[in-house]
Amino acid sequence: MTETRQYGFDTLQIHAGARPDPATGARNTPIYQTTAYVFRDAEHAAALFNLQEVGFIYSRLTNPTVAVLQERIATLEGGAGAVCCSSGHAAQIMSLFPLMQPGCNIVASTRLYGGTVTQFSQTIKRFGWSCKFVDFDDLDAVRDAIDDDTRAIFGEAIANPGGWIMDVRAVADIADAAQIPLIIDNTSATPYLIRPIEHGATLVVHSTTKYLTGNGTVTGGCVVDSGTFDWSATGKFPSLSEAEPAYHGLKFHETFGNLAFTFHSIAVGLRDLGMTMNPQAAHYTLCGIETLSLRMERHVRNAETVAGWLEKHPAVDHVTYAGLPSSKYHALAKKISPKGAGGLFTVALKGGYDACIKFVDNLEIFSHVANLGDTRSLVIHSASTTHRQLSPEQQAAAGAGPDVVRISIGIEDADDLIADLDQALTKASA
Ligand SMILES: Cc1ncc(COP(=O)(O)O)c(C=O)c1O
Repeated sequence: MTETRQYGFDTLQIHAGARPDPATGARNTPIYQTTAYVFRDAEHAAALFNLQEVGFIYSRLTNPTVAVLQERIATLEGGAGAVCCSSGHAAQIMSLFPLMQPGCNIVASTRLYGGTVTQFSQTIKRFGWSCKFVDFDDLDAVRDAIDDDTRAIFGEAIANPGGWIMDVRAVADIADAAQIPLIIDNTSATPYLIRPIEHGATLVVHSTTKYLTGNGTVTGGCVVDSGTFDWSATGKFPSLSEAEPAYHGLKFHETFGNLAFTFHSIAVGLRDLGMTMNPQAAHYTLCGIETLSLRMERHVRNAETVAGWLEKHPAVDHVTYAGLPSSKYHALAKKISPKGAGGLFTVALKGGYDACIKFVDNLEIFSHVANLGDTRSLVIHSASTTHRQLSPEQQAAAGAGPDVVRISIGIEDADDLIADLDQALTKASA
């Protein structure tokens, strides 16, 4: 593709990063199912290991199929570079790894995927890192939570499970003032609906397991770097600004400029943490991304129809979909996500916990699974599953209380989805 024309999203989701295979002419990106790559000679090998020449060494670090996906996602997000990894959770750790030292903390939203709350409240403690959780609707609280050891702010653009919207620009301004990066999990929005970098985010993380792949076939993750953060401005990010002892003293920011974070993530992060995406997974995700915009349009249209219907049902207490005028996030959704508020929301049933369990058990088209962002409509009772490790207070703050069911609307016929919900709600309230 020529560099002169600004291609549209639909074109880029099919072409960005890919070109016909130079060896065979294969039009689709081949699955390079190889562990290692033959060096031309010893000098070539040394240049690759010194990062003086870019190329392929070993598939824990880089792989040609994965590289196409990295370029595709970076392009769709408007970033300078990206690194793919084995899952969304891996991407979160990879996003923090170059920024953090023991004793450092992050400030994160209370409204996050339950697994992320556990990762940040428990698991990262073992690295000597910690997390302060704050309601991101309260911007003063976000500001107040930042201290000298804070190295990043973390939130979800459209938060799981409720589909609530984060004011990315407002939090980005706080991050800028504190000279720390804002990391946005853009899994539920996808770059088709929201491009967080345009709203001031430094890094964007994805669980590619969800909408980007789109049909529940593989797990994967990705970290996109905007390339705009000055890692050398404060001395807070020595892994990037100073001589990196883990890579024979290389200064990543000085050497790679706006690709410092991406190069560090590959050369040190993937090399030593090994959270690598495999080429088969990259292939499935590349296939999925080709139809991202078409699927997201249908997810949004179906979610608007189904959420609007559910809200009026007598068994329903409330629906959290930001695409509904009744949502307190509706105006923000229209501003930051004008193409729609995504396909994810929760429904609270008047019958409480017991009604939720009966409702989930009686659905027929909707699958009861711990996943979202599939072409199929999915449902889960978060409090007894994905948010089970959380305390009742954390569940309430995350919008995953016992009377709440999470719905991920698929791309089936909306009439069929409503008929299925209707029969299950009737049985749940019997
Ligand atoms: C918003 C969000 N971020 C991250 C993750 C973790 O992704 P993965 O399951 O690919 O590790 C999930 C998983 O459900 C998620 O919903």
